[in-house]
Amino acid sequence: MANFSPAFLDEVISRTDIVDLIARHVELKKAGSNLMGLCPFHHEKSPSFSVSADKQLYYCFGCGKGGGPFQFLMDHDGYAFPEAVEYLAEKAGMEIPAAVRQDPGENERNRKAQEMLAGASDAFARMLAGEQGRKARDYLKQRGMPEAIIRDYGLGYAPPGYGFMQKVFAAAGREQQVSARLEALGLLFKGERGYGDRFRDRLMFTIRDRRGHVVGFGGRVLGEGEPKYLNSPETSWFHKSDLLYGFSEHRDTIRKRKQLVIVEGYMDVLALAAHDLKIGLAPLGTAIGERQIREILRLHDAPIFCFDGDRAGRQAAWRALERMLPLLKAEYTPRFLYLPEGEDPDSLLKSEGGEAFENRLNHDAQPVLATWLAGLKLLAGTGADGRARMAKKADAMLKSMEDTYLRQAWRQEVEQATGISLQHEMCRPSARSDAVAAGEAVQLTHLQENFLTALMQKPERFRELPDMAADFFVDNERIQALYSRAFSIKADAEAETIDIARQLIREFPEDQAMISRWINQAPVQDIEYKSLLLDMEANDIRRRIKRGLSLDDSVRLQKRLGELQGQQRKLSEQLNAEKADNTGA
Ligand code: UTP
Ligand code: MN
Repeated sequence: MANFSPAFLDEVISRTDIVDLIARHVELKKAGSNLMGLCPFHHEKSPSFSVSADKQLYYCFGCGKGGGPFQFLMDHDGYAFPEAVEYLAEKAGMEIPAAVRQDPGENERNRKAQEMLAGASDAFARMLAGEQGRKARDYLKQRGMPEAIIRDYGLGYAPPGYGFMQKVFAAAGREQQVSARLEALGLLFKGERGYGDRFRDRLMFTIRDRRGHVVGFGGRVLGEGEPKYLNSPETSWFHKSDLLYGFSEHRDTIRKRKQLVIVEGYMDVLALAAHDLKIGLAPLGTAIGERQIREILRLHDAPIFCFDGDRAGRQAAWRALERMLPLLKAEYTPRFLYLPEGEDPDSLLKSEGGEAFENRLNHDAQPVLATWLAGLKLLAGTGADGRARMAKKADAMLKSMEDTYLRQAWRQEVEQATGISLQHEMCRPSARSDAVAAGEAVQLTHLQENFLTALMQKPERFRELPDMAADFFVDNERIQALYSRAFSIKADAEAETIDIARQLIREFPEDQAMISRWINQAPVQDIEYKSLLLDMEANDIRRRIKRGLSLDDSVRLQKRLGELQGQQRKLSEQLNAEKADNTGA
């Protein structure tokens, strides 16, 4: 596994100023030897987020999030561990050791892609400002879009006809290569007669990821036409269901003002911004998904979801609510705002102004519970059987809620509304024992560390573990607790790596650095994993033999040990053969 050496990581950390890094997002004030501010990871009114300049660490006494500079970039900006290391190393003027680069070309390719996407955004902006952009400028003026917004959000214009992008990125003699690149970026399509511009004669919206990098575009027809909005296709950089329009632009304002509004479209986000409400986010034309809701709740605990008041709007709200239930906690207070039929925030802002719209946000938005009860009632209908249907549907939905307290509170509300008592579940046992809460660092061997990494990366490996694997960490109470918890999370929920990691970090905050390390290593290949598993088993057997057993057991285990060593030999031959293949030797 490619890995940064501890010395290299230390060097990066020592050359990084964590205060500088964090102060870009959090207002910090001196408090004793530390700095304090409002936590960027949860909603709070008085500061419990502390940053220590000499320790190069941050910690929130409110929500327990903490770590060093790498962790901050991972938690706050969604970097993967190696990306965070490389970003800070580069800022510090350090060379990334060649051995660590999984694919030395990859960074270069990403950088190039990044440059081209930003370049395309600039080119569209220049077009909008120039002679050919007059029609689009008039359109924006007629819609009341201020100059500052056009500039700050990277609005642009894609001219009609073909060849614009290729002209922007012209490179004599390398036309084919450039076109292929532009296609990979979603800017060109490849038809029977060669490459053509995807966006033509459209008003362009620049879409950025959470780090502020341009990753794609939305293009609106000027006037009428189909499709009204054309978006970049899915590329390695552009994942529609992970993105929220306005995120990098508005994140800090949302935290400062403690206001967040989810709207449907690009124009709604921009109209809000034009009315000094830089607090809007929008999905990219798809129904809002679980990952987006997670992101929203992480940013602010009381977001307001706006929907049109018509039938389609109510259905969309219900879908959002269903997706939200598993993520809801008693600490969150999302609300739903239905707008008058046929209106969206953009049209309302135009007709009644920013203040009136803010009033709607403050006074008309309904708590999620009220929205849920009203929705249930509407679905179930009236009469005794309606009440029964409502109870039944509610029961099913309650099962998806993970916060047990909130679930009980909501259950009581439905019981009251319907007069029907719902099944009561037993309390779940608490996930962790206090014996393990000790704060000292955990010592793991290289083998144990790699083994856990391999499991976390591919949780389905948990399923195929032999029975004896349950005891692999009996000598290490703290790891044993983590390890068996990961098992049961996987078994309960068919969870993916990231869900397991999130859940573990929530339950074992003091081990967060270790857990993030596991999931941020280079992928452990199946064959490597097999060998790790054999080694783990062999070690476990040695441990048992040492403990002193009956002669029978001892003989049996020795035999098994022999078998394992044989298998291990075969595996390493196989591994060597593969390596030889890969290097072409
Ligand atoms: P709307 O049709 O409500 O448009 O689509 P809008 O935001 O009010 O835009 P204007 O005011 O007519 O200019 C809402 C969102 O759905 C996505 C876009 O993200 C749009 O902002 N959408 C809509 C598409 O992706 N494709 C379409 O063809 C239409
Ligand atoms: Mn609109």
